[in-house]
Amino acid sequence: MAEIKKIAIMTGGGDCPGLNPVIRAVVNTAINKYGLEVVGIRHGYHGLYHADFVKLGLDDVREIITKGGTMLYSSNKDNLFQYPQKNENGEFLRDENGKLIYKDESDVGVENLKREGIDALFILGGDGTLTSGRDFSRKGVKVIGIPKTIDNDLAGTDYTFGFDTAIGVATDGLDRVRTTGMSHHRIMVVEIMGRGAGWMALHAGIAGAADVILIPEIPYDINKVAEKIKADKAAGKEFSIVAVSEAAKPKGGEATILKVREDSPDPIRLGGVGAVVADQLETLVGSEARATILGHIQRGGTPTAHDRVLSSRYGYAAVEMAMRGEFGRMVALKGDTITSVSLEDVIGQKTKNVEPDHELVGVARAMGICFGD
Ligand code: F6P
Repeated sequence: MAEIKKIAIMTGGGDCPGLNPVIRAVVNTAINKYGLEVVGIRHGYHGLYHADFVKLGLDDVREIITKGGTMLYSSNKDNLFQYPQKNENGEFLRDENGKLIYKDESDVGVENLKREGIDALFILGGDGTLTSGRDFSRKGVKVIGIPKTIDNDLAGTDYTFGFDTAIGVATDGLDRVRTTGMSHHRIMVVEIMGRGAGWMALHAGIAGAADVILIPEIPYDINKVAEKIKADKAAGKEFSIVAVSEAAKPKGGEATILKVREDSPDPIRLGGVGAVVADQLETLVGSEARATILGHIQRGGTPTAHDRVLSSRYGYAAVEMAMRGEFGRMVALKGDTITSVSLEDVIGQKTKNVEPDHELVGVARAMGICFGD
C-alpha cells in the first residue's frame, strides 16, 4: 500500500453548512493523529485546474466550526471532464450552432496534483462534484468523497451533512409565517429548496405543522389543495401553511424553472412555484395568499450541533479510510454507523428521492397534512 504523506481537500458545488467543520476534522485528524501535510484547493475544481493550492495547518482551522460556507470557497460550474472553452478575453467559444465548445481538461487536474505531491484527494460534494470525483478515481487519483448537500438526495448515505441545519432554517421560516398568517387570516405559502427531492419540504413541513406539503415525488392537483384549505376554513381554521418544495409540480405538469445557466453542468435553477401556487389558491379559496421564498437563507449560517458532529465524524472517518488505503469510496451514514460506499455505486444510482409510501409521508398524512394528490 502506497504511503500517504500529503493530502489535499476541496469543496465543490453549492455551499452547505458543515463544510468548515469537515475541513477542520480532516486537518486535525491528519496532522494530530498521523502527522500528514495538508493542502486546501480553493474554488473547487476551478482551483484544481489553476493549481490554486494553499497549505493548511492547525491554526487555519481554528474557530471555523461555527461558520457556514466554506473557507476554501466553491464552484458549481467547473466540470474538468467537460470544460467549456474560452478565448483570451474570457468569452465562451461556441460552435456554428451557438453551442458551447467543451474539452476534457481533467489531465490538467491530475498533473497539478502530481506536481504538488498530493497522495490523496478529499472531495466534499454532492452528486455533481462526486461524479467528477469518481472519474478522477478512474484515472488513478486516490479519491475519498464526503457527502455534502442540504437536499439529502445523495444515494449511498442516509444523511448528508448540511441537511439538518437547512431543515431547521426552513422550519423556523414556517414558524415565522405562521404567526403573521394567523394575524391576517391568510394562506402562507413557503417555497423550500431541495432540488428534485422533497426531503427538505417533507421534514420541515412535518416539523412546522404545515397544512399542505407539496413535493416533486407526489404531483399535486391544485383543486385538491384548495378543497383541503376550504374544509379547514369551514371547520374554523382561518389561516393555512403550505410548504412547497421548489421542484413540486402539478399532475401532468412540469417544475417551475427560474433560469437556465448554460455554463453549468447542472443548468436548471428552480424557483417560482411558491408564487404560482399562492396565486392559484387565492383565486380558488377566496382568501389572501402570500408566498415566501426561503432561498439561500437555508444554505447559510451556523451549522447545527447535529451537523457539526456528523461533519466531524465524516472528516475523521475519511482520514482513517485514507490511512487504510480505501480509495474510490465515500464515507456514509447508515443508521447511526459511519461506513463507506464505493463512488461507483453512489454515482451509478439515481439520486435518493422520497418514495410516495415513505414512512414520513404516512406520518404527515396521519397529522392531517395534504399532499394535493
Ligand atoms: O443543491 C443545493 C441547492 O441549494 C438546491 O437546493 C438548489 O436548487 C440549488 O442548490 C441552488 O443552486 P444555486 O446556488 O446555484 O442557485
